[in-house]
Parts: sequence; structure tokens; C-alpha cells
Amino acid sequence: MTTDQFSEEKLKSLLKTEQLGKKICFFPSLESTNLFAKQLAEKGEPHGTLVIAETQTKGQGRLGRSWHSPKGGLWFSLILRPSFRPFLPQHLTFTAGLAAAQTCSRIIPNVSLRWPNDIYVESKKIGGILTEGRTKGNDFEYCIIGIGLNVNLTESEFPSILKSEASSLLILKKEKVEIPLFLANLLLLWENILKIYSQKGFAPVLNSWKKYAHFLGTFVKVDTPTKTIEGEAIDVTLSGALKVKDLDGMIHEISSGDVRRLTSN
Ligand code: BTN
Repeated sequence: MTTDQFSEEKLKSLLKTEQLGKKICFFPSLESTNLFAKQLAEKGEPHGTLVIAETQTKGQGRLGRSWHSPKGGLWFSLILRPSFRPFLPQHLTFTAGLAAAQTCSRIIPNVSLRWPNDIYVESKKIGGILTEGRTKGNDFEYCIIGIGLNVNLTESEFPSILKSEASSLLILKKEKVEIPLFLANLLLLWENILKIYSQKGFAPVLNSWKKYAHFLGTFVKVDTPTKTIEGEAIDVTLSGALKVKDLDGMIHEISSGDVRRLTSN
């Protein structure tokens, strides 16, 4: 199917991956690509299945928030069933964040990743990732990784509440981005990162990820589900947790929350 923003045939012709996106489910509109991908995964759809929608009517963000998903964005989810063991869903999220940051960096400068995996250009968020998984005993049967990237969104497409904190590749580059090519590049980079993760573990992935983590070494405020912590963001651990040193020198390891930068250095 082809629309003015996306062509499934174009994506297929550009894709150089072995597994990711080998099956594509494209919809002009869906409630949420994560939700649909979960339904497919429950029916046994294979590793690498891609669900993509031109708009989402109930796009889901992290921590129960909604995700603004008008036409012009790249809203997609992948079903991952890694054959290697062990893996952690949060590690898979980092592989996705790294692939997204690397792809955006080919288009615009100053792309950064803010823990856990928000994609920023300077102080403006241009994308986010939502990971969901289903366990079977102690193991994960599948993970759904949903990526939302504000690709060709114009200023007027952002509601006023988001205008000061969000941006898009189109606004920053002042040029439209070809979504099928962008996605083909992202999926290839992601597949290569997944290969590194399966062969060498999470450490090399995390090291590459940290090159985009400009918030490390700065003062941050982290809203966790239970409390707010202020201090210096000092590291991200091999389990994907954020380490913050507060003003009393106490070190907190945080596994879920939102980071705001208090300084711009
Ligand atoms: C965040 O809160 O930063 C994560 C946002 C994730 C949004 C994407 S868009 C594609 C996929 N489908 C959804 O409903 N959410 C994710």
C-alpha cells in the first residue's frame, strides 16, 4: 500500500535486513501499533514482524501516557523473539534507542539519548520508545518494541502543550525526510546492533549508546514512580539502570522514571 508519506513497496525494495521487517503490516490508521503487534505476537507472528501506521488514534507513551501520532510521523512496532539467551527487554530497548539515534544522526547534528531511551536534539524531544514483553516462566516469550519518531511533523501539528518541548526532523533539517528510506536504514542498523548484543553481550551496545548520552555528568531531576531524585547523572549500569548521585553523595540506582536536565553543560 502507498500513501503520500509511506510506500510499503518502496520500503521492501530498500530493506537490506535478514529478519527485521521481513513481514510488514502497514495501516493508514491504527489505535496503537504496539497494541496491534501484541495481538499478532499472541497469534504467533514471527520475530521481526513490523507493524506500521500512518496515524495512531490511541498512541501509547511510557508510564501510561498518550503519544501524539498525527500523519507525518514514523509510528511502528516490531515483534522481537530473540533466539539467544539470556536477554533482557530493557537491553532490547537500548538497542532500539541506539539504532534510532544513529539513523537520526545521519540527518541532523546534536542527536542525543536521554535515559531510558528518549531521542532528543538539544532540549527538544523528537522520539521515544515503548517496550512491552510477555513472560513465560522466567523467560520472555516475546517483546514488542514501539518506536515513535517525529519525522515530517510541522510546527502546527504539535499541540501547544508540546510546542516548547518537542520537535521534528523536518523542523530541524528544514527538509522532508523520506520515511521508507529512513526506516530501512534504521532497521539495518538495529539488526546489526542486535547481532552485536547476541554475540558480545550488552557492554559494547551500552558503550556505543553512551556516546549519545549527553545527559551523563549533568545535574538532573528524576521523577520515579515513588519519588523525585535530584543529583548528578553519573552512569547507566549493565542492567540499564540510571545511577544518580544526590547532593548528600548518596547513589541511587533507578530502574524506571523520567529525566529532566537541570543544567545545560
Ligand atoms: C515515550 O513515552 O517516550 C514512548 C513513546 C512511544 C511511542 C510509540 S509510537 C509507535 C508505538 N505505538 C505506540 O502506541 N507507542 C509506540
